[in-house]
Amino acid sequence: MGLDSYVARQIAAPSGRLAPLVARLLNAGNRPLNLAAIEALDLRPGMRVLDVGFGGGGSLRELSERVGSGGAVAGLDVSPAMVDRGRTIFRRLIAAGGLALELGSVESMPWPDASFDGAISVNTIFYWPDAAAGLREMWRVLRPGGVFALAMRSSQAVARARPERFGFKNYRTDELARLLEAAGWTGIASRDLRGGLSGNAVVMRATKAQDSSPLVDRESSSCA
Ligand SMILES: C[S@@+](CC[C@H](N)C(=O)[O-])C[C@H]1O[C@@H](n2cnc3c(N)ncnc32)[C@H](O)[C@@H]1O
Repeated sequence: MGLDSYVARQIAAPSGRLAPLVARLLNAGNRPLNLAAIEALDLRPGMRVLDVGFGGGGSLRELSERVGSGGAVAGLDVSPAMVDRGRTIFRRLIAAGGLALELGSVESMPWPDASFDGAISVNTIFYWPDAAAGLREMWRVLRPGGVFALAMRSSQAVARARPERFGFKNYRTDELARLLEAAGWTGIASRDLRGGLSGNAVVMRATKAQDSSPLVDRESSSCA
């Protein structure tokens, strides 16, 4: 495996002895984008919020402060190293009931329908095995009226790294908007962020409509 392939795989799912270092680098490099995604949620005290692919966990304390002791934060990550590290670093918050960190992949999450008021996922969608399934699953775990902020480096910035070499995907904003809409999301809007440590980026905001019926009902009625 070449060095660039090794680095790409570490960023996609940190593992092994380098994982703590990669986690710190991700936290530093992705902080502006995480803050922009969090801003897009309009969080209030008492809310329940999810971060999918939390990595080094740079977002988790910020989320926790915004929802306060009456709220709850959850994180999901496919990397056992990130989940173990997060459970160690945030053990007090977890013990107090304010945070739960789970191991798993976005297309099959361990929470019931409508568990969260809001969710973010930052610089992760390139690595999802099935983006359409992941966006449907995000929709399922948010309550009607809930907001999802999907943030990532711009497709032009990602293209320069030629992610297809490593089996990763790159999405333009219009492609993501279509995928979000197909997964049931409404009110889809995007905001470009210029510059910053990780280069140009995009924050997409989508809402689960208040009158949403469960996905399974929509699928069966559209087949009728
Ligand atoms: C580039 S890091 C970004 C971490 C963090 N969101 C940030 O902004 O710093 C990508 C993270 O997404 C996680 N990830 C990759 N594929 C995933 C999937 N299918 N489901 C959940 N998490 C995933 C990785 O393990 C890694 O921690």
